[in-house]
Amino acid sequence: MEIIVNDNVEEMGRAAARVVARTLNCKPNAVLGLATGSTPLTLYQELVRLHNEEGLDFSQVTTFNLDEYVGLTRKDAQSYHYFMHENLFKHINIATQNIYIPSGTTDNYEAFCKWYEQRIVECGGIDLQILGIGSDGHIAFNEPSSSLGSRTRIKTLARQTIEDNARFFDSAEAVPVYAITMGVGTILEARQIMLLANGRNKAKAVAEAIEGPVTSMITASALQLHSDVLYVIDRESARELKMLDYYEWVQTKMPDAP
Ligand code: GLP
Repeated sequence: MEIIVNDNVEEMGRAAARVVARTLNCKPNAVLGLATGSTPLTLYQELVRLHNEEGLDFSQVTTFNLDEYVGLTRKDAQSYHYFMHENLFKHINIATQNIYIPSGTTDNYEAFCKWYEQRIVECGGIDLQILGIGSDGHIAFNEPSSSLGSRTRIKTLARQTIEDNARFFDSAEAVPVYAITMGVGTILEARQIMLLANGRNKAKAVAEAIEGPVTSMITASALQLHSDVLYVIDRESARELKMLDYYEWVQTKMPDAP
């Protein structure tokens, strides 16, 4: 586990983009797991800049998104399909056939979820999974009490998540109640995981995820079971970490480690 604490979200975006760029430099046909929400926006902006100004190449990259609202079409401005195209895909040279996002409008969710899991495996598994975190500690849409072994499936959103995400919709009533989401078990199979968090409202979730017990009540805490997790967070969301001094000490000492 490694933690990089940043002063602001722009710096967070640059730090996270360096990790993605390093992955693509080592493996140009890497498989990336992508997240939505406001947190990864500065990362996507920086990736677009690196593509435009420094030639970061996505031509062989494959991506799998974590989740999608059930009932929203690709053209719906609130859908994660729309979000990804607007904020990343339309600005980089990724091949359309290499983009996978769960469908919010399939007529057979069970079959779709199985197919999605199978496609991840057929593409060689996820090399780097990017995650945000919900204020209730969820990753993707794995709400508290989700099985830590769960796979891609339909989840009923928690009231807290509906309230949190209402800011993107006209009202809380307009937020879909169901989502299709990768499971915690699916996420844990990624070779490397990078979780991003910023803001005071994430401080409790971040502390519980990193320093609390592993529990299905905070699905991000399952990341403690993974051997290669990087947290790229800001100072506000790091405020409740008991070992913050130690993490910052490690950050300064790590470059000289033998
Ligand atoms: C949604 C998404 C999560 C995301 C979370 C936090 O619930 N399903 O993947 O991490 O929102 O979003 P934000 O970054 O906007 O706080």
